[in-house]
Amino acid sequence: MRSLFFITILSSLATGFGLPNFPVKGHEWIPAGPKDSRSPCPGLNVLANHGYLPRSGKNIDLPTLHSAFEDAYNYAPGTFDDVFGLVQTFKLTTTGNISTFNLADLAKHDYIEFDGSLSRNDFYFGDNLHFDPKIWATMAKRMALNEVTRDPMSKYVTVESAAKARAARVADAMKVNPTFNASSTEMMGSPGTTALWLTTLWDDSVGAAPKEWVKSFFEWERLPYTKPKKQKTGEDIGNMLAKVQAVKV
Ligand SMILES: *[C@@H]1O[C@H](CO)[C@@H](O)[C@H](O)[C@H]1NC(C)=O
Ligand SMILES: *[C@@H]1O[C@H](CO)[C@@H](O)[C@H](O)[C@H]1NC(C)=O
Repeated sequence: MRSLFFITILSSLATGFGLPNFPVKGHEWIPAGPKDSRSPCPGLNVLANHGYLPRSGKNIDLPTLHSAFEDAYNYAPGTFDDVFGLVQTFKLTTTGNISTFNLADLAKHDYIEFDGSLSRNDFYFGDNLHFDPKIWATMAKRMALNEVTRDPMSKYVTVESAAKARAARVADAMKVNPTFNASSTEMMGSPGTTALWLTTLWDDSVGAAPKEWVKSFFEWERLPYTKPKKQKTGEDIGNMLAKVQAVKV
């Protein structure tokens, strides 16, 4: 009896507190081990944790990136080619092969990674790579991620609450980090990262992002859905960016 109880607890821990295990064979959620490479970007880590990218997070080339983004999130191939191009232009790769990179290569400060991240602390404070629960708690509070009321819409994050939480997070970082040095381009990239996660986690049927998906994605780096039916493109991200920028913050 007792051991059965134990096994039940262990298996519900293993599946991430009630989320069903991922139904696509070979793409189960397995968090990174100590030797695996991960990035400051939760969206890429999710792909590695589900084996859409190599689980090691290493030696990733462009075709692998295309199929991972398409098979998991249904982004059109090519949507993130510009980012891949930046990795090459900035010579961030440490694989010894300009055609591939390791996820951790993206953490090099002030290239693709910049101050005021939504779920990471600033480079100045010592770790700009790993999920930071304290930083994320400020975002979670502002988006009321852990509050669901009788109002059915309380289960969702709107563009407005995401945009306001982003702006407040950047303002916090500027206040506490004496070396805050996001360039003006990077300051424009910040709403872009919000547009990106909203587009990735958007539920078209509602017109908002389910809080449960947002939590799974950021807090567990775990896919909250199987491949969405409708393909997403750079244009969708651009349209979302316009909505994010239209919010008065
Ligand atoms: C570099 O990576 C590319 C893409 O995966 C691969 O085709 C090529 O063979 C690699 N080059 C070397 C020297 O390993
Ligand atoms: C930005 O600040 C970091 C310290 O947080 C520093 O290492 C880096 O050189 C600065 N970058 C620029 C472009 O000043």
